[in-house]
Amino acid sequence: MRENIEKTIVSTEEIQKTVARLGQELQTDYQGKVPIFICILKGAVLFMTDLIRAYDAPAEIEFMDVSSYGDALESSGEVRILKDLDIPVKGRDLVIVEDIIDTGRTLEALIKLLQTREAASIKICSFLNKPARRLINVHVDYTGVTVPDEFLVGYGLDYKNQYRNLPFVGVLKPEVYEQN
Ligand code: PRP
Ligand code: MN
Ligand code: MG
Repeated sequence: MRENIEKTIVSTEEIQKTVARLGQELQTDYQGKVPIFICILKGAVLFMTDLIRAYDAPAEIEFMDVSSYGDALESSGEVRILKDLDIPVKGRDLVIVEDIIDTGRTLEALIKLLQTREAASIKICSFLNKPARRLINVHVDYTGVTVPDEFLVGYGLDYKNQYRNLPFVGVLKPEVYEQN
């Protein structure tokens, strides 16, 4: 697996420091509240489990799986819910937890959907942010690391559903995805 990684973008040590900082920021901002951290499957799973342990105050966790692509190659901008929330969120403070914001399409659709459910607030916390690829101007409230426009894998990010378990974020060698 590691022989297919060209270089490291976010090291294990940097991941730990970044997550600790984000946990602290959130803890300060949500004082006296009980936010719901919503993990967007599957990419955000690793970040989510680290983040909630860096958040040392009452909180709830939920999981959602959404796809904005359907059968089309290009994103339709229409969100398809593969797994919905288990609880109503009316009047609740929501923190959407993502591994990366790329075009912003997944997030835009998700925010629109959650707004219809009358949440008290909706904030975005993404471990990575790739602004070079943005098509929709979504506001990311909490960003871990801003990354260049390269093919990244690890710490939740996949290529064909693999590499998510790498304990760092790296660039996949082009020959790996050019072969297929
Ligand atoms: C990836 C990533 C984000 C989304 C970002 O998920 O984890 O959720 O794409 O892309 P966008 O900003 O262009 O919408 P993916 O749909 O690959 O599913 P996965 O998390 O299960 O890998
Ligand atoms: Mn995802
Ligand atoms: Mg993916």
